[in-house]
Amino acid sequence: MTPIDHYAVFGSPIKHSKSPRIHKLFAEQTLQSLIYDAQEVNAEQFSSSVSHFFANGGKGLNCTLPLKELAWRFADKKTERAELSKAVNTLALQPDGSLLGDNTDGVGLLTDLMNNHLVKLKDQNVLILGAGGASRGIILPILEQNVASLVIANRTIDKAINLANEFVHKGAINGCGFDDLAHQQFDLIINATSSSLSNEIPPLPENILSNNGVCYDLAYGNEPTSFVRWGQKNKVIKSLDGLGMLVEQAAEAFFIWRGVRPITKEIIELLNSERG
Ligand code: ATR
Repeated sequence: MTPIDHYAVFGSPIKHSKSPRIHKLFAEQTLQSLIYDAQEVNAEQFSSSVSHFFANGGKGLNCTLPLKELAWRFADKKTERAELSKAVNTLALQPDGSLLGDNTDGVGLLTDLMNNHLVKLKDQNVLILGAGGASRGIILPILEQNVASLVIANRTIDKAINLANEFVHKGAINGCGFDDLAHQQFDLIINATSSSLSNEIPPLPENILSNNGVCYDLAYGNEPTSFVRWGQKNKVIKSLDGLGMLVEQAAEAFFIWRGVRPITKEIIELLNSERG
């Protein structure tokens, strides 16, 4: 009997990951036979755990914090979007035994913004808050939408400038500090800092949002994040969190592994309803 195909998410902490649930729902919906579990793996255990997983019949892995950069180093081949983001969240076993590394975070964000929430990016002025790994993963897909401008603002200014410089050949992008944002207006502000985790928000000047502005926090929780609340207070037309992006990046990984695209709408609705 052929063993059932095995997939997993590695990370630390991993206990609260929604990925096993999401992939189980995808598999049921698309009638795919597979198992997907979550495994607590820290940075020191990464290489041996990945090797063990694939040596024992594993077909594909998701890697989350703090393993995305390690996965980027580990992959034998990478897609362009993974190469530039210096982070891999999806490893896929290839027919020749090699591991392909991809990053589905950026496409997950764009699908949620553009398809699920009908937010337009073309010709818009976009601001990303933060210059860490989460920002890096979404820059290229945003520039590819022909935005009018993309600004990266960060507490540590040098990191924003250096990150922007890595992408200047791909479009109109600049890095700066939060103080430099005074007198500028944006149509879309994406929070890619980890500030929501500590219930804080980066210091933003008043009137930074244009009319019809949109806020998007890559983080999510059972309650609205501090940045989502900031958007609501500033009367944006939409103030969204990253639950939709989580499901969409998972759907893209599922497609890479199985060649089948799940319908995400009903799954996002289900997860949304469960958090009240
Ligand atoms: P990740 O992989 O989630 O992006 P990271 O690489 O550690 O994590 O980056 C965290 C980002 O959140 C950084 O841009 C960090 O700013 P610094 O580079 O100045 O450290 C930003 N950040 C974290 N807490 C913040 C806070 N309270 N206010 C503003 N920015 C914050």
